[in-house]
Amino acid sequence: MRRREFLQQLALVSVTVACAETKTSGDTTTTTGAKKATSGDGAQKVAAATPAVTPDIPSGLFALGVASGDPLADRVMLWTRLCSNPLIAGGGAPTVPVELAYDVSTNETFTSLVASGLVSATPQQGNAVHLDVTGLQPNTWYYYRFRTATETSPVGRTRTFPEPEDSPEQFKFVFASCQDYQWGYYGGWARAAEVADLDAVVFLGDYIYELSLGDLSPNKSGARVWAAPEPVTLEQYRWRYAQTKSDLSLQKAHQTAPWLITFDDHEVANNYAGDVQEEDRGKPTGRERRLAAYQAWYENMPIRITPEPTSFDSLEVHRTSNFGDLANVYVIETRQSADAPACRGDDVTLTDSGPACDELNDPQRTNLGTEQEQWLIESLTASSTTWNVLANPLMMAGLNLGTPEAPEIGRDTWDGYPEVRARLLNALQESKVSNPVVVTGDWHANFVLDVKASPDGETIAPEFLASSITTVLFATDYSASNPHLRFFSATHSFGVVTITPSLLTCELHNLADIWDPDTTVSSIDRFEVAAGTHEARKV
Ligand SMILES: [Fe+2]
Repeated sequence: MRRREFLQQLALVSVTVACAETKTSGDTTTTTGAKKATSGDGAQKVAAATPAVTPDIPSGLFALGVASGDPLADRVMLWTRLCSNPLIAGGGAPTVPVELAYDVSTNETFTSLVASGLVSATPQQGNAVHLDVTGLQPNTWYYYRFRTATETSPVGRTRTFPEPEDSPEQFKFVFASCQDYQWGYYGGWARAAEVADLDAVVFLGDYIYELSLGDLSPNKSGARVWAAPEPVTLEQYRWRYAQTKSDLSLQKAHQTAPWLITFDDHEVANNYAGDVQEEDRGKPTGRERRLAAYQAWYENMPIRITPEPTSFDSLEVHRTSNFGDLANVYVIETRQSADAPACRGDDVTLTDSGPACDELNDPQRTNLGTEQEQWLIESLTASSTTWNVLANPLMMAGLNLGTPEAPEIGRDTWDGYPEVRARLLNALQESKVSNPVVVTGDWHANFVLDVKASPDGETIAPEFLASSITTVLFATDYSASNPHLRFFSATHSFGVVTITPSLLTCELHNLADIWDPDTTVSSIDRFEVAAGTHEARKV
């Protein structure tokens, strides 16, 4: 978004885990445990699997760490990707399949295995592994790791969520977005990983950036410069993820809790929509690039897509994550099936901000796509959880970027798709969906907003928009033209949401210095929403 501005600012022994043979389908392995052995006291223990030696492969293959995601009550996705040198083309990855062992344990020393088995990392699948470990206990923390015959990965910590009928007292997650490697260090992720009692991380888009901007560091250290050219091909996108994921603070955040992840535009290219690239006027030119980018995104994310994608023209990214009767999180995306932003005309100005135009009000225009919109409305209106959180890449409440007399909008945000937004908000109101809340990324500034169907209408949901982890800030305060804007600040940040049956708290953790890899959290802005009120108040 706002590319012009952007360029300007340059085992516990467990007998409850079912045991079965590991099976591989596509490149996702589903396991319900591993071979059991019997310990001296008669209790059943899981035996650690032994991977075969793969000759002539590089060392240091776990340079990108491990990650987990999409927890359910009985399963969680585990991920790793073999890469010995993120700074070179191909990542110094093995050119042959490598057999890995995985271990899942209830303790960090892996003396209490609940699952262990073998899985293959192949060059065709980007040397990545997506492992869906099932048969786990609900509402339980686990440790996991991968092993080759000669090396062991860092240890990750993850959890399953409660059963849908359970009544947890609290659900706490970090939300964040926009982590351009070029614009600073990921000290924010190190601080996010230290948040106490964290259940999950919700990532709202712009995991990588496609633009190459050179050395942006204050001391021109060259430490955060893209090694790869602007990506167009699968190999180039894979390279971007490898370099991004080489940062140990980001790895630490992945190894602390499971992530729920969606994408925005920069995982492909600025303000793309479906196959339409930003500069396209006429025939769309972005299809091959989008498919390459989606494949690399999938390969690098601990995401569960069922069935396993074998082509990447239509990825089912939208999904629900349930945390007992307390909360559902609806993960959505607004790029894949979107119509190109309206009012572009023939002028290639590389901006989608400006006055509204008639085209916006075409009810056929969509950002979600028909299938995702139907799923979202049906899921929300059928929900029985106390809180219903939309994990939403782009601002939903809308914002007047101009003046009251001459309004302007960001046409790639929900303001560019008012008919879809009206249908969604109408469904929330008519079905009296319990406590809808929106958490958002993208803008590179902090906002707390009221989501309304009309300027004079009642507030349907609070929206919390956390700033970027690193990407350049957009400091313009639009409060004067936007009475539904309750709070604005231009700092780098991540958000922390704590949900209890009666209260939602959102804390914006402001980062002191993104060019300090050990940045502190300089301050915290705190907001509360009492159940049933739909409005945030600063505390
Ligand atoms: Fe961004």
